[in-house]
Amino acid sequence: MSDSRYTDIDVQVCEVGLRDGLQMFNTPFPTAEKLAWIRSEAAAGVREIEVTSFVPPKLVPQFVDAQEVVENALAIDGLTVVALVPNLKGAERAIQLGVHKLNFVMSVSRTHNLKNVRREREESIADFQRIVELVRSLPAERRPRLVGGLSSALGCGYEGHVPVDEVRRWAVAYAEAGADEVMIADTVGHSDPVHVREAFRVVMADVSPLPVSAHFHDTRGLGLANVAAALECGVRRFDASLAGLGGCQFVPAATGNIVLDDLCFMLDAMGMRTGVDLEKLLAVREIVARNLPGTPLHGALARAGLPQGYHERPRAAA
Ligand code: COA
Ligand code: ZN
Repeated sequence: MSDSRYTDIDVQVCEVGLRDGLQMFNTPFPTAEKLAWIRSEAAAGVREIEVTSFVPPKLVPQFVDAQEVVENALAIDGLTVVALVPNLKGAERAIQLGVHKLNFVMSVSRTHNLKNVRREREESIADFQRIVELVRSLPAERRPRLVGGLSSALGCGYEGHVPVDEVRRWAVAYAEAGADEVMIADTVGHSDPVHVREAFRVVMADVSPLPVSAHFHDTRGLGLANVAAALECGVRRFDASLAGLGGCQFVPAATGNIVLDDLCFMLDAMGMRTGVDLEKLLAVREIVARNLPGTPLHGALARAGLPQGYHERPRAAA
């Protein structure tokens, strides 16, 4: 089963390192190097890249170059340019520039939503509704896809356990408001495969036929196991970051997103097409390494390489 918009791939992977990874670094990653990263990954076959975040630059200076990054990314043939937006104002900026897909952020956890976007969840949904109205007022060819993101959906650094019923409630709120897709995010890496299966099954049943995508962090090493559980539920869209870039300034043990290179390897080994050339993708790590000296880069594939005879072996059936 595939809910991908692309007919020649089975699973859609989206690079989020330029947003989720870089937002924690105070030192600016040079714009030209962000663009080198984006271009090289697109050339390696990555179809979707979350290139920036439309937030106040004084809050996250890393994204002061959002406009320049988006304008250059939009010039790359075949690339779906994605941006995070926390409110209507961010969406207006992104839409004006022609971003293809907007990831709206709100947290299932009330406390995290208040801390992250300084508003109640009901206010976030009301703002999302205004974005839907704005998008619907545009000519069809200028309408971006709207993703309703549910952060801290599988655990919260402030509230701990997050009930699946709450995830369902806010996923349905997004669906009713007019989202094109719902994304469930394990923002701090609390979840496990059994929990993932439960949450995704419930949400997917309730928002069907909207696609549901997954955003996992690998804080406790269960990221790819959680992907396998989500795949079993029929999820075919995953966020990840090259070399697992990211983490949290306030949680020393926290790691970033699941490693994009390892995710693509796992899917490829399982016979699921991502469109990504693994060797070309691994080569892009150098761009991250040279710009963030001293930052640990994660990834088992980068460490061990492809298995001997990998390309010659019989392919598994997906
Ligand atoms: N982009 C640029 N500027 C923005 C903006 C946006 N998306 N949203 C608001 N602003 C500006 C306002 O115009 C206002 O400017 P002014 O002081 O010159 O008048 C100022 O920021 C404050 O606006 P306000 O609506 O009161 O925002 P806030 O202070 O309540 O903050 C958010 C709300 C959502 C903008 C902020 O909490 C945020 O960006 N959160 C996201 C944090 C993040 O990136 N988290 C990690 C990703 S999950
Ligand atoms: Zn994240």
